[in-house]
Amino acid sequence: MIFVLGATGKIGRALVPALLDTGAAVRALTRDPAKARIDSRAEVVQADLDTADLPALLDGADRVFVLTQGHSADREAAIARAAARAGATHLVKLSTTGVHFGQTDPITRAHAEAEQAIREAGPVWTILRPGAFMDNRFAWVGSIRDGNAVYVPEGDPASALVHVRDIAAVATLALTTSDHEGATYELTGGEALTTEQQVATLAGALGRPVKYVEEPESAARERMTRMYGWPVEAVDGFFALKRESAEHEHVVFDTVERLLGRPPLTFADWAGENAAAFPYHYRG
Ligand SMILES: NC(=O)c1ccc[n+]([C@@H]2O[C@H](COP(=O)([O-])OP(=O)(O)OC[C@H]3O[C@@H](n4cnc5c(N)ncnc54)[C@H](OP(=O)(O)O)[C@@H]3O)[C@@H](O)[C@H]2O)c1
Repeated sequence: MIFVLGATGKIGRALVPALLDTGAAVRALTRDPAKARIDSRAEVVQADLDTADLPALLDGADRVFVLTQGHSADREAAIARAAARAGATHLVKLSTTGVHFGQTDPITRAHAEAEQAIREAGPVWTILRPGAFMDNRFAWVGSIRDGNAVYVPEGDPASALVHVRDIAAVATLALTTSDHEGATYELTGGEALTTEQQVATLAGALGRPVKYVEEPESAARERMTRMYGWPVEAVDGFFALKRESAEHEHVVFDTVERLLGRPPLTFADWAGENAAAFPYHYRG
């Protein structure tokens, strides 16, 4: 049985059905099964990783997809140790390209430490290091809805955004075949686009122009705390990571194409699939 942590998240939502489609038995974790909308072929388990009895939770798991929120290396180390004690044979950890580039921001450092804990836990391991997700652009829903505009911090870098379905497809290979044991994979899309090009691509999918507005970091911070309700520490963490990742975000890795035997999904694919999520409520 494959135990998927983060089963209702951006990658988890794509990963659970992809694993089930291979015929694998899947156990999916959520804190709230009533809201979770998990594929009905999976066994759903309710638990909160903040309070769960990890050995009991991981009992019976042969392979574990380790994705957690909050960037706690201690938590992922405890999961890895409990999985090993429960007899798991393979751990697949979701990390970040920042580790490859040696970034020292707190989010990347936590991933680097957690990777080490996974490698030392005992079971064989595979590390997946994606770059920035295309799904991050759902952050534009509110400003498009309210003003058909996208506000971008000045100096936003070109980014080789990756589609979460490609990450899930690689995770599926790692979790269902034995060819990826001891491997560390950097995962990006196939091309780097500036944020302005991303907005233009999305506008093309929406069939209407969308305003592209660059703003100073202070205004971007204000928007994130006031409009999106992010805690100040989360905004600090985001900009610390952004400052360090800016010079690497354009780098394209060929891993997705090499492993999947097809080109990565494009931002145009993503925009076309998700256009309906970006309505504009004109208040003229
Ligand atoms: N976004 C990017 O561009 C990017 C790039 C590289 C790496 N990453 C990494 O991707 C990882 C996850 O990303 P995300 O923040 O976007 O989250 P996400 O995977 O979209 O969602 C978080 C998941 O974690 C579960 N979860 C949260 N707290 C939990 C708890 N206390 N107990 C059990 N389950 C819990 C949620 O399940 P329920 O709500 O159903 O309980 C949900 O399934 C992070 O490690 C991040 O560093 C992100």
